Amino acid sequence: MKIKVFDNEEDLYNYAAKIFINEVKTNPNTHLGLATGSTPIKLYQLLVEDYKKNKTDYSNVKTFNLDEYAGLDKTHAQSYYTFMHNQLFNHINIKKENINIPNGKANNLNKEAETYGKLLIKEGINLQLLGIGTNGHIAFNEPGSPLDGKCSLVDLTKNTIKDNSRFFKNINEVPKKAISVGIGDILKSKKIVLIAVGKHKAEAIKKTVNVKPTTKCPASALNNHKETLILLDKDAASLL
Ligand code: PGA
Repeated sequence: MKIKVFDNEEDLYNYAAKIFINEVKTNPNTHLGLATGSTPIKLYQLLVEDYKKNKTDYSNVKTFNLDEYAGLDKTHAQSYYTFMHNQLFNHINIKKENINIPNGKANNLNKEAETYGKLLIKEGINLQLLGIGTNGHIAFNEPGSPLDGKCSLVDLTKNTIKDNSRFFKNINEVPKKAISVGIGDILKSKKIVLIAVGKHKAEAIKKTVNVKPTTKCPASALNNHKETLILLDKDAASLL
């Protein structure tokens, strides 16, 4: 695990964008693992700006999202399908058939998770983007999740439901379950970039960096991954 701390968000996101743009340029058939939430928004904006300016070619890139809320149709304003299309996919030349996101409205959500997990293992991820929850979750692997876990239908904790309620009209609308890739799936990625910005992430980062992996903090599993880069602003790094 390598850690880089930036004086400001702008420098952090420019650095992260270069990593992703460079990956796509040097490996036009690359498989990117993508994340949702507030953290990646600025990164996706920079990728879109770069696409408009430099025509970086995504036509042979495949993407695989980490998770999707159970029970939300892809057309729902808060589905991760909608988020990804609004933030990134509608603005670059990625092919529809190369975009992979679990279907939160599948009839059998356990089966959907199993099928998505198999697809991930078959295809493999070259570069995985991660955010981190205030409770140390990565994707929707909440504290207590197995560190070698596979893609599955998971329960969201009260903490996560509260954190994510800011995107919904009220807390009761936040789905209680999601399909999420497992920590074991994430650790199979060749390279991982985790971004954390803000004081509210400092505690989770303290429990993640240079510790023995523990299910109490799912992101601590990344200590077992050699090609993980953690990008932090000063606030997120303030307890290190
Ligand atoms: P955030 O969420 O980017 O909205 O802070 C991160 C996460 O929960 O993984």
